[in-house]
Amino acid sequence: MRVALVTGASRGIGRAIALRLAADGFRVAVNYVRDETAADELISDIAKEGGEAASFRADIADLDANRALFANVAARFGRLDVLVNNAGVAELGPFSAIDSEAYDRLFAITRGTYFAMQNAIPLLEDAGRIVNISTGLTRGWAPMAAAYAGSKAAIEQFTRALSKEVGQRGITVNAVLPGVTRTDILSGASDEQLEKARQQTSFGRLGEPGDIADVVAFLASESARWITGQLIVANGGSTA
Ligand SMILES: NC(=O)c1ccc[n+]([C@@H]2O[C@H](COP(=O)([O-])OP(=O)(O)OC[C@H]3O[C@@H](n4cnc5c(N)ncnc54)[C@H](OP(=O)(O)O)[C@@H]3O)[C@@H](O)[C@H]2O)c1
Repeated sequence: MRVALVTGASRGIGRAIALRLAADGFRVAVNYVRDETAADELISDIAKEGGEAASFRADIADLDANRALFANVAARFGRLDVLVNNAGVAELGPFSAIDSEAYDRLFAITRGTYFAMQNAIPLLEDAGRIVNISTGLTRGWAPMAAAYAGSKAAIEQFTRALSKEVGQRGITVNAVLPGVTRTDILSGASDEQLEKARQQTSFGRLGEPGDIADVVAFLASESARWITGQLIVANGGSTA
């Protein structure tokens, strides 16, 4: 039975991805860093639906913990077919307001994502999948998000470059670029900002985690075998 590792799967988009991949028949490795209760709830929700999952605490920004995560997943499940690099933090604000600590928090995740891919490559089965979660903010001028969007733009470039290196093994590497999606990460956003984001979509609503999970599930499937090195915008047609 195929195995998927989803980083930052305890909440939000990662949780929805883990649920969807479990429903698609994957055994799921649920990574989280702080919220053990939420990770445990997810494991039991997957089990209730007849799926199999296990949780793995690891700060992907800590490179030793990152390496250990892959060793632990291999020890528990014996194989890896799909890696979804979803873990992320938001640091938004005017260019001058982002201090070096905030900048480092963002780029520590970028670094962790790079090394997660490096750790995954020897473990991934042929025809495996890597899906990186970026942001639609890399498509525009990203006012208030220079550092955040910059940290994701690097991940997009890793995506394209790595797709060329692993293609001979049938492994695909793609990125999904969500628009504003209703999760805890929006807790700092004002009602006005959320209303503007809602109006900017073609459907007059914000994204839901499941909207992104469905795209990831497609990219993780056999049906997406001919798609690699691509950046897929999933933002409800937002013109932000
Ligand atoms: N929501 C949006 O509007 C939106 C839009 C575009 C892109 N995205 C991207 O989508 C991804 C998921 O975001 P979300 O909205 O679902 O966020 P969220 O609800 O805040 O969840 C973040 C998840 O990442 C985990 N995490 C954070 N830092 C980690 C680390 N160093 N190591 C391991 N796990 C870590 C958290 O674990 P704990 O529960 O243990 O803290 C949690 O499971 C992020 O990459 C984000 O940048 C989100």
